[in-house]
Amino acid sequence: MSKASEKSKPALLKIEIESSNRAPLGKAIVNIDQFLSEDTNSKLTMEFNKAQNIFGLRVLKDNIIWLWKKNKSVVVIDPAIAKPVIKYLKEKNLKLEAILQTHHHSDHIGGTEELTKNWPNAKVIASIKEKDRIPFQNLSVKDGDKLNIMGEEVKVFEVLGHTRSHLAFFLNVKKHPVLFVGDTLFSGGCGRIFEGTYQQMYSSLERIKSFPKNTLIYCAHEYTKSNILWALNLKPQDQNIKNKLSEVEKKLSIDELTIPFSLDEEMKINLFLRAKNLEEFTYLRANKDLWV
Ligand SMILES: [Fe+2]
Repeated sequence: MSKASEKSKPALLKIEIESSNRAPLGKAIVNIDQFLSEDTNSKLTMEFNKAQNIFGLRVLKDNIIWLWKKNKSVVVIDPAIAKPVIKYLKEKNLKLEAILQTHHHSDHIGGTEELTKNWPNAKVIASIKEKDRIPFQNLSVKDGDKLNIMGEEVKVFEVLGHTRSHLAFFLNVKKHPVLFVGDTLFSGGCGRIFEGTYQQMYSSLERIKSFPKNTLIYCAHEYTKSNILWALNLKPQDQNIKNKLSEVEKKLSIDELTIPFSLDEEMKINLFLRAKNLEEFTYLRANKDLWV
């Protein structure tokens, strides 16, 4: 419930290194990679939906690496670390097709280089604005780009605020469209504003709200319970938020992820999505930053 709960340890390490020492990025990644490789708590969740074939691999304190599988190919989203992904793919005899990078933080790109050593033909798809901070990208994209990955159309959306070039990836599959949002939207919360402005993050959330309401949101951290407790602290009588807490506690008690979550349900309980204007959003974000 501390501030750190909104950012996993490796990312904090990275940010501290960048801000205090101005160390070259390459050096920072090597240091943190050593830390990341010690992770022993990886766990693959159960298959969420057979039609979608998206699996969550829980790693580190609260990161989720998403694996989107089709036939014998897999696309990995924001690989914080490599080892458990390599183990899973090799055990199942699967091929890494591509890696989608939402942003440059170490707990999202920490495993990428190691994965590409094992699958040299894999595409590493990242923002063209992040060639310095995601130097191993080999398919640079920008807002509005459309990609064909494993026979499916994937659209690229820029959602600024958490970083100055953060991306989301939209997959318009039948029944439930999918949006990989990285650290922009969490269940009950939103990403910290590290490099962007309140206006940018507010606009990014407004943009996400314009997606089909049945879109399933896949974020990169399991922060839901902490976020819901914060929201209840501000809105103790809100029945939707109370119900969400019960639902979340039930899932966590049987070791299930609370993610993905649907956009329409989220709009009922997420105070940042419910904010009526920039002023309200700014108040909420500042309040959350200070909440302990
Ligand atoms: Fe991040």
